[in-house]
Amino acid sequence: MNKSLKALRGEVIIPGDKSVSHRSVMLSALGDTPVHITNFLPSADCLSTVGVMRALGAKVDIISDTELIVKGNGLHGLQEPTTILDAGNSGTTLRLMMGMLAPQKFVSVFTGDSSLHKRPMGRVIKPLSQMGAHIVGRANNTKLPITIVPVEGKLKGYKYNMPVASAQVKSAMLLAGLFAEGETTVVEPYPSRNHTELMLETFGVKLKYEGSSITITAPEKMVAPKELVVPGDISSAAFWLVAASIIPDSELLLKNVGINETRTGIIDVLKDMGANLTIQNQRKSGGELVADILVKYARLHGTSFGADIIPRLVDEIPIIAVAAMFADGDTIITGAGELRVKETDRLEAICNQFAKLGGTIEGKEDGLIIHGSSTPKMAECFSYDDHRMAMCLAVLGIAGAGVEIQNPDCVDISYPDFYEELDRLTK
Ligand code: S3P
Repeated sequence: MNKSLKALRGEVIIPGDKSVSHRSVMLSALGDTPVHITNFLPSADCLSTVGVMRALGAKVDIISDTELIVKGNGLHGLQEPTTILDAGNSGTTLRLMMGMLAPQKFVSVFTGDSSLHKRPMGRVIKPLSQMGAHIVGRANNTKLPITIVPVEGKLKGYKYNMPVASAQVKSAMLLAGLFAEGETTVVEPYPSRNHTELMLETFGVKLKYEGSSITITAPEKMVAPKELVVPGDISSAAFWLVAASIIPDSELLLKNVGINETRTGIIDVLKDMGANLTIQNQRKSGGELVADILVKYARLHGTSFGADIIPRLVDEIPIIAVAAMFADGDTIITGAGELRVKETDRLEAICNQFAKLGGTIEGKEDGLIIHGSSTPKMAECFSYDDHRMAMCLAVLGIAGAGVEIQNPDCVDISYPDFYEELDRLTK
């Protein structure tokens, strides 16, 4: 790819949110009436969730690429799977489903791809075990393959002070709490994405909020809505927000972007760096706030941010690092140790690969120091089979001197049409 420095102009319709798409299928499978899901993200990760929910007895009809009808068998209607449940590359599928399946009266066995086998699952297994769940996994109950064995009676409600801010851990506990005896409470160190909470409420489940704690009590049933509309994914919009901000003369209108405030850290950081972003046409769609975002090229400058904002932009740090390479001055990111346990060690991947394209980046145990005003170079880079790394490298390539990406197809995990959009905008 060597399409350097052509201004990006026009509109991009942002595809459905990955986190919300997963949850829409999972929760619909606990209702007993059909749910029509629109703007679903038909990416490999979300299709892993569809496969798992089907194996548990839910009926999932794929009407079109972005439209599903899901019908479950009620809150207590999940069925014992006859096969191993394959979460693929998806941490969200695996961690949330461990929460949903730990209280069930049947055996479930999970696998996934080689990346998921390396990722830490003890963070979910440990608190679920405190509720009485029987879960066994490789590496001292921390890694795939994982087996959930049925418990006598019910799981017991539990108050969990989460050591790391993780929406996946929080969601696993809340989903287990749907079936537990008494109250299940999670206390977050910093607020993480709240799509599980919002969608549980859409299904009629009452939650109690007190400061940084969220409490769930098992409901009698889930009341499935007829329709669920998935907002556009700000984590996908992020690539265009940065690309248009750093390529001179660019002006893009990003349509239908979810702007739930637990996800908008990237907007705050880019604005802080001097980006020219305008939020337009703000509206509610399917219980979530969405808007169109107009982004115009602007000269950016460095910034610093840390632990308190990380959960609101955890998946956007690699693309923020791209913006920082083109900014004046240094950008300092701290409190981002979680990036070491994503689809790959993203702090290491950023340092190694961005350097080949001209970046000067110092890796720290839990963050990065990115020196701005880089001089771009053309290079061959590894995606590490990590979708967000591949998309960042592509943006670096078009904003800089070009790039050859190895294993580029991993973008299918979250943004199957990414390269088509990039081609269209750079033609
Ligand atoms: C997600 C939560 C985040 C995020 C992931 C999706 C979710 O992970 O990185 O891409 O849908 O709940 P953590 O909970 O591990 O931070």
